[in-house]
Amino acid sequence: MKRILINDGCIKKFETAIEFELSHFYMYKSLANKMQELGYFGAKDYYLTESAEEETHYQKHIDFLNDVGVLPKLPSITVDSNVIQSLKDSVIIAYENELDLLKYYRDMYREEAMEYPEIASYLNFFLDTQREAVGFYGDILSMFDIEASNPNINMVIDHKFKKLAK
Ligand SMILES: [Fe+2]
Repeated sequence: MKRILINDGCIKKFETAIEFELSHFYMYKSLANKMQELGYFGAKDYYLTESAEEETHYQKHIDFLNDVGVLPKLPSITVDSNVIQSLKDSVIIAYENELDLLKYYRDMYREEAMEYPEIASYLNFFLDTQREAVGFYGDILSMFDIEASNPNINMVIDHKFKKLAK
C-alpha cells in the first residue's frame, strides 16, 4: 500500500507553495489583461508566457507530492487587478510577488532540507527560478529608474517584453 512519506507540517508547506504558484498563474493573467487594456501588447504577451510557466510550477508540486503519497488540498484564488495603473506598476507587482516566493522557498529549504534530502534537491529548481525572476524584474525596474526622463521608456520596455515573450 502507498505510504505518505512526509509529515503534516511539510504537506502544509507544499500546499502554501501551491497557493503561491496558482496565485502567480492568476496574477500574470490579470497583469496581461490590464496591459492589453493599456495598449502594452508586448507586456501582455510576456505575462501570458509567465502565467503558463507558473502553471507548470504548480504541476511540478502536484507531481512531487504524488510521488511521496500526498494528494494536496487546492486553494481558492482571488486577484485584485484594480491597483495596476501603469506598465511600471505591473513590474513592481511582479517583482514583489516573485521576491516573496523566493523568501518562502528559502525558508522551506531551511526547514525541510535536513529531514528530507529529496526536498532539498527538488527545491533547487524553484530557488533558481525565483532568483532569475527577481533578477529580471529588478533589471526592468532599474531601466525605469535610469531612463526616468525618457518619454519613450514605456514603449522601450514593452518592446523588450515583446522580444522575450514566447
Ligand atoms: Fe513559479
